[in-house]
Amino acid sequence: MGRLQDKVALVIGAARGIGKATALRFKEEGARLVIADFEAEGGKAAADELGAAFIATDISKLADAEAAVALAVEQYGRLDIVVQNAGIYPWQLIEDTSAEDWASVIAVNLGGSFNAARAALPQMRQQNYGRILFTSSITGPHVTSPGHGHYSATKAGINGFIRAAALEFAGYGITVNGVEPGNILTEAMRLHRGPAFIKNMEDAIPLGRLGSPRDIANAFLFLASDEASYITGTTIVVDGGQLLPEGSDFRMVPP
Ligand SMILES: NC(=O)c1ccc[n+]([C@@H]2O[C@H](COP(=O)([O-])OP(=O)(O)OC[C@H]3O[C@@H](n4cnc5c(N)ncnc54)[C@H](O)[C@@H]3O)[C@@H](O)[C@H]2O)c1
Repeated sequence: MGRLQDKVALVIGAARGIGKATALRFKEEGARLVIADFEAEGGKAAADELGAAFIATDISKLADAEAAVALAVEQYGRLDIVVQNAGIYPWQLIEDTSAEDWASVIAVNLGGSFNAARAALPQMRQQNYGRILFTSSITGPHVTSPGHGHYSATKAGINGFIRAAALEFAGYGITVNGVEPGNILTEAMRLHRGPAFIKNMEDAIPLGRLGSPRDIANAFLFLASDEASYITGTTIVVDGGQLLPEGSDFRMVPP
């Protein structure tokens, strides 16, 4: 028996990267899946690969989130787990960020998180069971870098929303949690960042490597499983120890 045997999971933002790895991990543990993504072609390909249902979704729109939940219920009769992982991360200094740029990052990352929870709530409440999970980040809640003003605001905001939703939904048998990834080696990271950035990051991470999408998927699996039934309103940092050092010279020098 898998750890998510026969559970129905909706993973939003799962055409690639962390979301796809999470959907795969859930499938390996017996879940039945719906994948929702903005990218119709990539999303459909991922869904076919995983034997999942697919729906093209812009998670910044509540109606799209509701349609994704409706598909899960229509297809499988219930909805046990939602992972809202869709996020955008344009690199943009605050001085170059227009009101429209700001609004678009807030709409997807933070608005999308509200939309996913709001859409899943009626079904989960009726079942008296649900797991609502979010991809936050260490960027925002703990650290940041230039060019991530809007992004940092959304990820810190998601953590606040997790706590508020956890409190409101506790009486309905629904838990709400998140994962805070550090630097994860996704296709997008390889494409946009390049070897110098990646090497620099490896040197800054105590465990000596960037994370894999599967590292994050495993944390989501735990939070989605029965083993986490008494956990709500919190996040798990999965960062290879990146947040720990007080300064840059943190490696122990052998005698
Ligand atoms: N990669 C990292 O190092 C890292 C670190 C911390 C947090 N995160 C977070 O993890 C999540 C996934 O990141 P990733 O690195 O796998 O990125 P990615 O860009 O590879 O994947 C994001 C997915 O979300 C989808 N998406 C984007 N906008 C959408 C929308 N409006 N509606 C529906 N789907 C949409 C994309 O099509 C894509 O499939 C994001 O929330 C990101 O902020 C990533």
